[in-house]
Amino acid sequence: MINGIIAILLVGLFGFFLGKFIKHKSLYPFMHFKYDFRKRRDTFKQCLELLDYTNAKTIIETGTSREGLRGAKSNGAATIVFGKWAKMNGAKLYSVDISEESVNNSQAEVDRQHLHDVVSVFQSDSVAFLVDFDQQVDFLYLDSYDYSDDVEVQKKSQEHHLAEFKAIEDQLHENSLVLIDDCDLPNGGKGKLAIAYMLQNGWRIVTEAYQVLLVRDDFVIDKA
Ligand SMILES: C[S@@+](CC[C@H](N)C(=O)[O-])C[C@H]1O[C@@H](n2cnc3c(N)ncnc32)[C@H](O)[C@@H]1O
Repeated sequence: MINGIIAILLVGLFGFFLGKFIKHKSLYPFMHFKYDFRKRRDTFKQCLELLDYTNAKTIIETGTSREGLRGAKSNGAATIVFGKWAKMNGAKLYSVDISEESVNNSQAEVDRQHLHDVVSVFQSDSVAFLVDFDQQVDFLYLDSYDYSDDVEVQKKSQEHHLAEFKAIEDQLHENSLVLIDDCDLPNGGKGKLAIAYMLQNGWRIVTEAYQVLLVRDDFVIDKA
């Protein structure tokens, strides 16, 4: 009897940890296995490969990693993921955020990860920052104005991400990559208006998931 109970408990425990292991989506070996990027793992991985392929040098992220690497599962920790790629590949990442607290937290993680020479974190409204940015951009990651259940907030977030794209579109080129976060959400997520605009203006979707990855119509993905 006791043995039977112990066997059931062990099987249950095994199932629990197996389930956790299957759900765990790491970017190992690029990032430590313990970081779980969950719904963003596959699109991050694809972007990292395309950054290699396009030999990107200038990356912009709107909305910085306010929880540092602790936020891998919740927010993405993109500042650190793409900052690390930048460090390994002689590129620069510019991350902009309107909140002093987000900027301070992100900067602290950038310093802890020894990325301060390649990652610059700016405190500004992202649209104002992008309007003033005067270099060509190889990879644009849009992830600022938080989305919510409130329909008015959703509209503002979507309008803000469209305004971000319009503010920098002249600095994008034929091999630029654009990734938009938090898209697979009620009423279209952060990217709804930006994606509609991009599709009418020479861009196409490469991957449509929780994040949406877009390139120019004439971008040729040939990694063979
Ligand atoms: C989801 S978090 C960004 C997460 C980050 N990209 C990551 O991968 O960890 C969204 C951030 O956008 C910032 N934000 C909201 N409105 C903004 C605006 N108008 N301009 C710039 N940043 C803004 C917030 O302060 C917040 O820190």
